[in-house]
Amino acid sequence: LPDLKYPEGFLFGVASAAYQVEGAVMEEGKGPSVWDWASRQPGAVTDNTTADVVDLHYFLYKEDVARIAALGVNSHSFSVSWARIFPFGAADSPVNQQGLDHYADVIETHLKSNITPVVTLFHWDTPLALAAYYGGFTSPQIVDDFVHYAKTVFTAYNGSVHTWYTFNEPQVYCAQVGSFPFNLSFAPGINEQNAQFQCSYNLLKAHAGAVKAFREMGITGEIAFKSADYIGMPWRANNTEDMEAVERNAAFNIGVFADPVYTTGDWPQILKDTLPPDVLPRLTEQESKEILGTADFFAIDAYRTYWNAAPPEGIDACVNNTSDPLWPGCFLELMNDFNTGWSSGPASDPLTPWLQATPQFLRPSFKRLHERWPTSKIYLSEFGFTQPFEGVRNPQVLFQLTEDPERTNYYMTYLGELLLSIHEDGIPVQGAFCWAIMDNAEWNSGLSARFGIQYVNYSSPTLERSYKRSAFALADFFEAHL
Ligand code: BGC
Repeated sequence: LPDLKYPEGFLFGVASAAYQVEGAVMEEGKGPSVWDWASRQPGAVTDNTTADVVDLHYFLYKEDVARIAALGVNSHSFSVSWARIFPFGAADSPVNQQGLDHYADVIETHLKSNITPVVTLFHWDTPLALAAYYGGFTSPQIVDDFVHYAKTVFTAYNGSVHTWYTFNEPQVYCAQVGSFPFNLSFAPGINEQNAQFQCSYNLLKAHAGAVKAFREMGITGEIAFKSADYIGMPWRANNTEDMEAVERNAAFNIGVFADPVYTTGDWPQILKDTLPPDVLPRLTEQESKEILGTADFFAIDAYRTYWNAAPPEGIDACVNNTSDPLWPGCFLELMNDFNTGWSSGPASDPLTPWLQATPQFLRPSFKRLHERWPTSKIYLSEFGFTQPFEGVRNPQVLFQLTEDPERTNYYMTYLGELLLSIHEDGIPVQGAFCWAIMDNAEWNSGLSARFGIQYVNYSSPTLERSYKRSAFALADFFEAHL
C-alpha cells in the first residue's frame, strides 16, 4: 500500500453492544430486555446459549478497556442498555441510579485511557416490559418512552461523550420484528403482518424526537443513527434492470431511514408506490419537517456488498405480489455460491451466510452512498468477519483459537481500500470500528459465531480474553497509517 495516512482525528475503534457483551443480565437493578426473553425460547438461538453471562463485560470493563488501549485503539463504540436505566422501560417508571452510575464509570474509564467513547442508545434490546405492554416499536407509545430515556442519558453524560447514535441498524431491527414467533428469528417477534413498517414509522419518530431534544438541550457533540450495509452492485454490469434492482434495494434497506433524515423528509418514492398507507403510514408535512436534518453525519455498518439482480419473472410480478406484502422490494440478493454458483468473495463461517469479504466493492459503494446521501462526515461504524468454523475449534489449543488469517485479510484489504476511498475518491471517512472488541453473543447464532478480534474462552471460569492475530495486524496497520 502507498504510504497514505488517515486524516487528523481519525477514530480507530472497536465496537460492541450491551446485550452481546455485558452479561450480568439480572444484576444491579437491570430489567429484562426482549433478547433476555427471546434467548430463553427453545430453538431461538442455534446453540441454545443465552447472553446471561457471555463476556461479563459489565464487571470486566476496566480490563477490557486496558486491553484495547494496549493495542493502540483510540475509540470504543458501545451501547447503553435501556433496561439498565429504566428497568420497566416507560417514561413514568423509576430510573435505576445504579445503571446510570455504572455507565458513568464506564465512560470515565475510557476517557482516562484516552479512548473516545461512542455511545449508542438502542442496539435492539427493547425493555421487555414495553414489548409485553404495548408491542415495543410497533406501537406509537414507544416514541415518548424512548425520547425520555434518551434525554436521561444525554443529561447524565453530556460533556463526556461527543459522538452519539440513536439507533443501531433500524432497518435490520424493524424488518425482523414481525417475524417472531413464526420462525423464532428475532426479538420481540410481534405477530402482525404490518409490524415492519409500523416499527419503521415509530422508530423514525423516536429518532427525530431524541435528536430534537439533543439540540434543544444544548448537548455538545454530534448525533446520527447507524445504517446497515445493503449497498448492492448490479449483477450484470450496465444492465438497466439490475441497476434498477440496486436502486430498489438501496431504497428499501438504506433509503427507508436515510431519505427522510438526510435528503427528502419522506419515504423513498418506490416504497410509497409499492406499499399502501395501511402498511406504510404516510408522513405528514409536519412530521417530515421534524425528521429532515436530524443527523450530523452518516454512519454505515459496511460489512459486505453483494450483487443485486432483477427477479427473472419480471418486476410487475413482484410489485403485485400480494402474498408477500412486507417485502415487495423486488430485487434479488445474490451473494454466495448457493444462489449464484459464483462467489463474490471469500466466505465466512457457515453460521453467517450473509457475510462475504468484498473489499473490491468498498470504494464504489462508498462513492454511491456519498452521492445519494451527502454529508460532511462518514463513519464506517462497524465492519468485521467470522473466521470459518472458528466456533468449533478445540478450546485446548490456544494457538489455533487465535489464528485468524481470513479475518486478518478481511481487515487489511478493507482498510487499504478505505484509505484509497479517502485519498483517491475524496470520501470524508473519519472513523472505522471493528466488530467486535471480542467474541460475543451473536444474536440467533449465540456463542458459536465468533466476530471478535479477541478470543474469549467460554469454558474458563475467568472468561479469559486472548488477542487474535487480526488484533495485532490491526494495531500495526494503524500505527503505520494513523
Ligand atoms: C450488528 C451487530 C452484529 C453484527 C454481526 C451488525 O449488524 O450491529 O450487533 O453482531 O452485525 O452480525
